[in-house]
Amino acid sequence: FSISGDCFVPNKIKLVVCKDSSAAALDAAGRIAVIVRERSTPVIGLATGSTPETVYAELVRLHREEKLSFRNASTFNLDEYVGLPSTHAQSYRAFMQAHLFSQIDVLPWRTHLLDGTAALPALECEAFEKRILAAGGVDLWLLGIGGNGHIAFNEPGSPVDSRTRIVALTPETIAANSDGRFFSDPAEVPRAALTAGIATIREARRVVLLATGAKKAAAVAAAMKGPFTESCPASLLQDHADCTFVLDEDAASLF
Ligand code: F6R
Repeated sequence: FSISGDCFVPNKIKLVVCKDSSAAALDAAGRIAVIVRERSTPVIGLATGSTPETVYAELVRLHREEKLSFRNASTFNLDEYVGLPSTHAQSYRAFMQAHLFSQIDVLPWRTHLLDGTAALPALECEAFEKRILAAGGVDLWLLGIGGNGHIAFNEPGSPVDSRTRIVALTPETIAANSDGRFFSDPAEVPRAALTAGIATIREARRVVLLATGAKKAAAVAAAMKGPFTESCPASLLQDHADCTFVLDEDAASLF
């Protein structure tokens, strides 16, 4: 379907507010673990960035200490920078290898990331969508949120029916990713990325958006309490049948 301008939909987003960022990450990891244990061939959507790092640490702990096995799981990551090979330390493939894949028993060929160096990005994006379909669709997609309300690299204005594609990064996102956590100079940050689209994400059977810290409070409040609008991409989850926002108290402070 399409929307013209802002509109209101029944807001079905469930809210969980945890006392701090560690508790929120444990909650989100627990939701992933339930799917991994319950499904015979679980399909998990993943995010990169600072927010999910503790989630991945907990999944590694569950694997080591509580026999959580990813042997039959497939994973799909939201996005990848254009131009960064998987060997680049700041590529999202390298991030996932370091924080999760190298420490659990997931099979390498079942970990799907977009290839930011693909010669034909449109074909790479189409193939990614096909791989999701072939895996049977995503059971649970873990998301973060940008300070401007972006999900994956769907910046404000991204169409609700957008699919995996190449996008330009906004100056705000380039600045957020060059604050020393990942890149230390805006000039080093790629200008474009391949990203799952809003429709790609909305098709996941379950969505868990994890947001922690006061910097996310305005975006979370807009997504939760504002209109269903492409100006705030995360608000486009409001009518999802099974979407939970897992927050810490700081991220929930503008409710
Ligand atoms: C990462 C992604 C982004 C981040 C968002 C928040 O794969 O798609 O949307 O989730 O930019 O990033 P952090 O967690 O670093 O604040």
